[in-house]
Amino acid sequence: MNYNYAAVVLAAGDGKRMKSAHSKVCCELLCKPMISWVLDACARFGLDDRHICAVLSGKDDGVKELLPEDMPVALQNQRLGTGHAVQMALPFLQQMQREGVTDVCVLYGDVPFLDEDTLRDALFTHRSAQNSVTVLTAMAEDPAGYGRVLHTGNTVEIVEAADATPAQLAVREINSGIYWFRLDYLLAALPRLQNDNSQGEYYLTDVVGMTKDLDGTAGTFLCRNTDSVLGANDRKQLAALNEIARQRVFDKHYAAGVDIPCTDGVMIGPDVVIGPDTRIYPGCILMGKTVIGNGCIIGPSTHVVDGSVGDGSIVDFSRVESSVVGKACRIGPFARLRAGCTVADGVKIGNFVELNNSTAGDRSSFPHLTYIGDADIGENVNVGCGVVTVNNDGQHKYRTVVEDGAFIGSNSNLIAPVTVGGGAYIAAATTVTRDVAPEAMVFGRVRQTEMTGGARGRIKKR
Ligand code: UD1
Ligand code: CA
Repeated sequence: MNYNYAAVVLAAGDGKRMKSAHSKVCCELLCKPMISWVLDACARFGLDDRHICAVLSGKDDGVKELLPEDMPVALQNQRLGTGHAVQMALPFLQQMQREGVTDVCVLYGDVPFLDEDTLRDALFTHRSAQNSVTVLTAMAEDPAGYGRVLHTGNTVEIVEAADATPAQLAVREINSGIYWFRLDYLLAALPRLQNDNSQGEYYLTDVVGMTKDLDGTAGTFLCRNTDSVLGANDRKQLAALNEIARQRVFDKHYAAGVDIPCTDGVMIGPDVVIGPDTRIYPGCILMGKTVIGNGCIIGPSTHVVDGSVGDGSIVDFSRVESSVVGKACRIGPFARLRAGCTVADGVKIGNFVELNNSTAGDRSSFPHLTYIGDADIGENVNVGCGVVTVNNDGQHKYRTVVEDGAFIGSNSNLIAPVTVGGGAYIAAATTVTRDVAPEAMVFGRVRQTEMTGGARGRIKKR
């Protein structure tokens, strides 16, 4: 694809007011780091990773780990202002110019609700008005702390709150800090930035005011929804954004036919997909790339991270991590599917059952008190209460295979590596140490002995 636009994402700020060891942009909304919200919006807008440059602090502040591997990075070792931050991306911008990029968006890693429609509409305005720079602005109820946007004749100027007069402070149109620039204009303006202001910083906003000197034009794009340019500087603001995000996600799912009768304690990540007629009960946390089918019942108190649950399944008081659950399954209460499990359709996993890195075929049943680790369980297998796959000898892990239709009696141990053939019957309390042939019956426990009257005198009378 031939790109004629690119983006620079500023993410070199520290987490001082968040009181975080990590950068502010690592703080999460609905369990997703703010910078990932921004990068995903860029991707949906149509930018690929190679056309986005992230400006990082150079400190080990957790941001780098959140970026795709092939994303260009610029380091700003000293925090000398937003203009200085963009100056650090100069080699990237020059490279983009060589590749034919004409327009560049500058955005912040801590403004998570900026969406692809706003980016697209603003670029459209920017190009049709033939602006050198287009500032994304918003009308703020409370503009405190933001740069104010001043329209004088054909020019636009931004004055920082710290440098504004009382009359300027009364202006409610604020600078979101997000811009579309003509790349040639930005490259001409960046070297001219000065830091002669009250904060001694190189302000990116001054680039907007340079149109007179550089023979350019500046315009604004007023965002319809002020929320889309909200940022978070401290934990309280972060919690407020989280609540906005939470409600937006609910609204999206209500519109899609999802039933959430009471949202208490419910958190659904922005990338979660849920089918119609599914009901979500209180206390559920659905995160990551989770996909829930149609007509499911999830919860109460269920946690699904990067999991998939098929149509008509019930997951009650349980946890599903990076695992796939088929259709019409019954999971829980109190079950845990750890990473790497795939269970087919109609499977029953009951209370106090843990599956880890295992598969189960259609209609197999694990009703209670069982550990299944590193195992491949076929179809129609019945696993009795208290069965354990013994997968770890202290140094290595081994797999257990149970073929279709086998019956594993209660309280049996399957010592891996071991295979139980199809239709085999393992008597209760057997310790299986060797492979079992199909349809075999296996007893592996000490034979019971009984001494008539042998209990007399052994039990203390109360
Ligand atoms: C900036 C704007 C202001 C606007 C506001 C919107 C300037 C001079 N002011 O102010 O007009 O209303 O954003 O939120 O641009 N950053 C760096 N390196 C730096 C400084 C900042 O990477 O040296 C990054 C921060 O991580 C942050 C973003 O730039 O993501 C904004 O920085 P911040 O200091 O919050 O800017 P404001 O003073 O709020
Ligand atoms: Ca800010």
